[in-house]
Formats: sequence, C-alpha cells, structure tokens
Amino acid sequence: MVITVGGIKGGTGKSTISTNLAVWLSRQGHDVLLVDADEQESSSDFTAWRGETRNGELGYTLVQLTGALVRRQVELLKPKYSHIIIDTGGRDTSSQRAALFVSDRYLLPFAPRSYEIWTLSKVLSLLAEVQDVRTSPLQTFSFLNKADTRGVDNAEAMEVLRENEELNFVDFPIVSRKAFATAASKGLSVFEHTPVDEKAVAELNVLFSHVTK
Ligand SMILES: Nc1ncnc2c1ncn2[C@@H]1O[C@H](COP(=O)(O)OP(=O)(O)OP(=O)(O)O)[C@@H](O)[C@H]1O
Ligand SMILES: [Mg+2]
Repeated sequence: MVITVGGIKGGTGKSTISTNLAVWLSRQGHDVLLVDADEQESSSDFTAWRGETRNGELGYTLVQLTGALVRRQVELLKPKYSHIIIDTGGRDTSSQRAALFVSDRYLLPFAPRSYEIWTLSKVLSLLAEVQDVRTSPLQTFSFLNKADTRGVDNAEAMEVLRENEELNFVDFPIVSRKAFATAASKGLSVFEHTPVDEKAVAELNVLFSHVTK
C-alpha cells in the first residue's frame, strides 16, 4: 500500500506521522520504504539520527525524491515493498501531486487551530483535481494531530472537517504530547522511546490500525 502524508500547511505533523507510521509498520514485520519528498528533509534527518541511536538498524529504507520522480520511482519500487510512506512538504508542490497520483491513501493531519482549518479549501481543490484524473479514488483520511486534551478548539476543527465528506474525517485524534519531539530528536518513534508515553502509543495504534486496514 502507498500512503502519502500531506496537506497544505506547515507543521501539522506530517513528518511525525510519516516516521512513526514507517516504524510502526516495520515493527510488524513489513518491508517499508519511507520516501522523503520534502526538501526540508525532516524524515531524512530523523532517519540519520535513528541510524546513530540504533547503530544503523533503521528497520525501513529511506529515499529522497522530488517532483515527477516521486511518481515514476514509486511506481517502480512498489512491487518491492509491502508499504511505501511518502512524507510531503506543507505546500501544494509538484512532489505532493506526483505522490497523490501513485498513492492508495492520503493522510491529512490538521492541528485544531482555526487558521489552519482555513487552508481546507486549498486541500479540497487539490484533492478534487487529483480525484478527477485517477482511475480509482484516492482513499483519504483526515484527523486531528496536536489536539488539545480538552477545549473548544478540537470541537470546532472537527466540525469543519466533518462537513467535508471527501476528507473522510476519522475521530481518532492524536493529542499534543511532548513525547513526539523527545523521541524524534533521537530518531525514535514513540513506540521505541523510553519512558514510553502509553497514551501517545495507544492513540497512534488506533489511528494507524484504522488507516492501514
Ligand atoms: N502530536 C504531537 N504532539 C506534540 N508535538 C507534535 C505532535 N506532532 C508533531 N509535533 C511537533 O510539531 C513540530 C512539527 O511537526 P512535523 O515536523 O512532524 O510537522 P510537518 O507537518 O512535517 O512540518 P513541515 O510542514 O515543516 O514539514 C515538531 O516539533 C514535532 O515534534
Ligand atoms: Mg515535514
């Protein structure tokens, strides 16, 4: 399965979700390719730190690709891996578009702040354009990342996301937790970092099981 993690807003947690998902799948014994399609190279940095922390034992393969190459290379690499995760930048780039043509699934993390939700119309038109030229529909899942533990922001964001059926909002929020940054700074997923943040692990387990079903 080819899964793109994207959107048209920086800092929503695309690289965090991509790297944790790549590790989550590899820990289940799958052969995983992580494609870094963002010139910021967050997934590549994560992987470099991971190599140091884990003595080169990455658990997945990483490649950097941009533009049209994302589509062409992923098409070629698809038969060699059980799962390919593509981390895109937070803009409407040729890389993200190329990724969406070759993907089975599209994960859209949103942080629960109203200004972020305003990028929604851009995501919707990108999605509509991509769906238009695909032979099979791109299965999309939107969800909250960096959610508040409580408060009205979550509810407002959820309402807006729910209104747009094509975004297929899934009510499995990932709450904002320090563990994500702490683990990432060592190139680790929250599944591996100790002390384990059980809540972060539980939330990702639920979300990842759902979106890879
Ligand atoms: N659930 C979370 N809880 C707390 N911090 C988080 C969470 N998800 C992501 N972050 C933090 O938010 C910051 C941005 O995350 P990340 O780099 O994954 O976003 P991004 O969407 O890939 O950004 P960019 O658009 O720049 O590529 C990082 O410091 C990361 O550790
Ligand atoms: Mg990123």
